Amino acid sequence: MTIQTTLKMGDARLLQAAAPVTAFDTPELHALIADLRDTMVALNGAGLAAPQIGIGLQVVIFGVHSSPRYPDAEPVPETVLVNPTLTAIGTEQDEAWEGCLSVPGMRGLVPRYTHLHYRGFDQFGTVIERAVSGFHARVVQHEVDHLLGILYPMRIRDLRHFGFTEVLFPEQSGAAE
Ligand code: NI
Repeated sequence: MTIQTTLKMGDARLLQAAAPVTAFDTPELHALIADLRDTMVALNGAGLAAPQIGIGLQVVIFGVHSSPRYPDAEPVPETVLVNPTLTAIGTEQDEAWEGCLSVPGMRGLVPRYTHLHYRGFDQFGTVIERAVSGFHARVVQHEVDHLLGILYPMRIRDLRHFGFTEVLFPEQSGAAE
């Protein structure tokens, strides 16, 4: 399909809550997911949410085999998640560095729940239900935040831990954004 333009922080569309998808297995939904996938792959992202390409629907994709943006991350299965709901398992949180294709060139230290249950649907309407931990849980929380109009800098507890990738991680300065 098409590599779409990714909206950047400051665009009001990134701050809006997304609407649920009401029809599955439609040409429009398949086209949206193809565009998300092509755009995410082209930008070496770990995930992408529909609002980031200007579509206000509850659709996210994510997946990591080995990403130059996240060289130490454990693999996360390629997933399409529509109308997701998250439930933290326990109260444990951990902090780790995140980036975002809508906040290019930057990284911030973000607290997330360590253990998480999530539920949603794939593009055909099949239920997806998983209990996950660590980086997988982090990626899902980051992407689902996009559906709530939340960007990761809004989650940073201490803004001293927010800055430019090339300064914070000079050894990764060649990584794509
Ligand atoms: Ni993001």
